Amino acid sequence: MNNIAHAIIPVAGFGTRMLPLSKSVPKELLPLGNRPAIHYVVEEAVTAGIKHIVLVGHAQKSAIENYFDVNAELDTQLRAKGKNELADSLNWLPDDVSVSMIRQGKPLGLGHAVLSARPIIGHHDFAVLLPDVVLNPFTTDMATDNLAFMLREFVNNRYSQILVSEVADSDVHKYGIAKLSSKDDLHNIVSDSNRSFAVSGFVEKPALADAPSNLAVVGRYVFSNEIFDFLAKTQPSVGGEIQLTDAIDALISAQGVQVTTMKGNSFDAGDMTSYMQAFIYFAQKQLAG
Ligand code: G1P
Repeated sequence: MNNIAHAIIPVAGFGTRMLPLSKSVPKELLPLGNRPAIHYVVEEAVTAGIKHIVLVGHAQKSAIENYFDVNAELDTQLRAKGKNELADSLNWLPDDVSVSMIRQGKPLGLGHAVLSARPIIGHHDFAVLLPDVVLNPFTTDMATDNLAFMLREFVNNRYSQILVSEVADSDVHKYGIAKLSSKDDLHNIVSDSNRSFAVSGFVEKPALADAPSNLAVVGRYVFSNEIFDFLAKTQPSVGGEIQLTDAIDALISAQGVQVTTMKGNSFDAGDMTSYMQAFIYFAQKQLAG
C-alpha cells in the first residue's frame, strides 16, 4: 500500500488572539525558542515521511512560504563570508521535500481551507496539521510517534485517523470533542501512548454539559481522499464556518474513522498565554543544550 506523501497546513487565520504580535508578522512565524513555530510543525511532518507540504493561506502569509524557500542572495553572502555551516542550517529541508502555497480566497473556515488544497492534492490521501498546535519535539520521536504512527495505521487498516488527547473540563468548549463507540473504549485509553480505535462522531466546541467525552481533537489528521467529497457538500454550521468536524462525521458514516491517542504533550501557539508558556519551555530546553 502506498505511503501518504502530502500534508495540508492551513495558515490563513489572522491570529486575533496573538495581537499585537501578529499584526504584521504571520502568527505562524512567531518564535518558539530559536525557531518560528511553524518550523517545528513542518519538521514533524517531514520527519514522519511527508514529501509535499501544501500551505493554505492568503496574501499576507507569503513570508511563510519564503521561510521554507532558499534565499539565494543570503546563501551567497553567508558562504562568501565563510559561514557555510550557518548557510547549510538554513537549507535543512531535504531535497525530496517541496512546499507549495495555495490561497483560500474567502475565509470560510477550516473545512473550506482544507478543501481549497484539493486542486493540488488531487486524488491522493493526505495529512492535515494545524499550525496553532505544536507537538512537544523534546519528549516524542517524530519518526515513530503521533503523526508517524497515524500514517502507519492508515496504510495498514485504511481508516482515517484523528489525533486526540484528554483535556480538562474547563477546556472542552475550545475543541472538537470525540464521541466514542462504546463506553468501554474510555477504559482502553492508555495514557501517553499511541493507540487507535473507532470513534462514532465529533461535536465541535460543545458546552461542557453537551460534551460526549474529554477527548479533544489535537490538530493532526490523516484522511482518505473521500473527505474532499464530504467537505464539498458541507454547509456552514458553528460560527458560520464550514467545519472540518462536520465532514468527518459524514466520513464516519461512510467508511468509519479512528481516533489515535496522543503520546507526549502539545502546545497551543495560537493563544497568548499558552504561547508565552511554550516559548519559555522551548527556550529553556534549547539554552540547556
Ligand atoms: C480547530 C478544530 C477543532 C480542534 C482545534 C485544535 O479549531 O475545529 O476541532 O479541536 O482546531 O486546535 P480552532 O482552534 O481552529 O478554532
